[in-house]
Amino acid sequence: MRLGPPPRPTRVVDLLNPTAVLLPAANVIMQLASPAVGYGVLESPVDSGNVYKHPLKRARTTGTYLAAATLGTDADRALIRDEVDRVHALVRSTKSSPVSYNAFDPRLQLWVAACLYRYYIDQHEFLYGPLDDDSADAVYQDAKITVSAMENTHLRFIQPGNPSYARDRSYGLRFQTPSGSVVFTGDSGPSQSLTKLAKGADILVTEVIDVRGTISFATASSPTFLPRALPTSVELR
Ligand code: HEM
Repeated sequence: MRLGPPPRPTRVVDLLNPTAVLLPAANVIMQLASPAVGYGVLESPVDSGNVYKHPLKRARTTGTYLAAATLGTDADRALIRDEVDRVHALVRSTKSSPVSYNAFDPRLQLWVAACLYRYYIDQHEFLYGPLDDDSADAVYQDAKITVSAMENTHLRFIQPGNPSYARDRSYGLRFQTPSGSVVFTGDSGPSQSLTKLAKGADILVTEVIDVRGTISFATASSPTFLPRALPTSVELR
């Protein structure tokens, strides 16, 4: 383990230093700040890696996971991923859970992965201060998570130049990771940029609307409702 500051960190593993043993508690709290992850751990039926019952064993398994993720070969990663997947398969909410969760949920996985990424950055910054921009970019690329944003068409009639444009525009986001890609888009009409953003994605998380059902409901509750008040882009299929 290195004791002096790395000249110019370019990989996640370059950020590892002795504070690795001091900072996990803060990072675990950060992970548990997501209610779904918090309840997943609180209600976990898995005793073997339970952080409260076997803290040292859990630190060792997570350490092994992180070593494989940052330094290991593809075979190392596959091995530990299979083991952790076996545990995670048991982590899902029940009817009595206060929030619904599933350890395989890509959004929750991303949250935990983002926290673990932060764990490495914190180690470096705790001892040596903020990363410079070039190092921060290089380390981020090494973590192999790319986030791209594209404007969607939430309010199509608000175009650049309109006074409320800055306030009302909205975006779709794509998270690209070595294990797959997830695209999130808020409420949007047909949008070429969104189609491009979502091309080839493993998961697209989007709002959907049952157009016929919505028209029936609106007509029943307000007889003066005109279906043609719907945006012209909505196609009845
Ligand atoms: C990138 C994301 C994640 C990584 C790298 C990760 C890593 C790990 C590792 C290394 C273990 C230890 C296995 C053992 O010691 O047997 C584990 C167990 C566990 N994980 Fe995850 N995990 C992730 C996401 C999640 C999510 C999203 C949840 C909850 C919704 C979750 C809940 C659990 C639970 C409940 C256990 C069993 C042990 C315990 O009760 O603390 N994990 N995970």
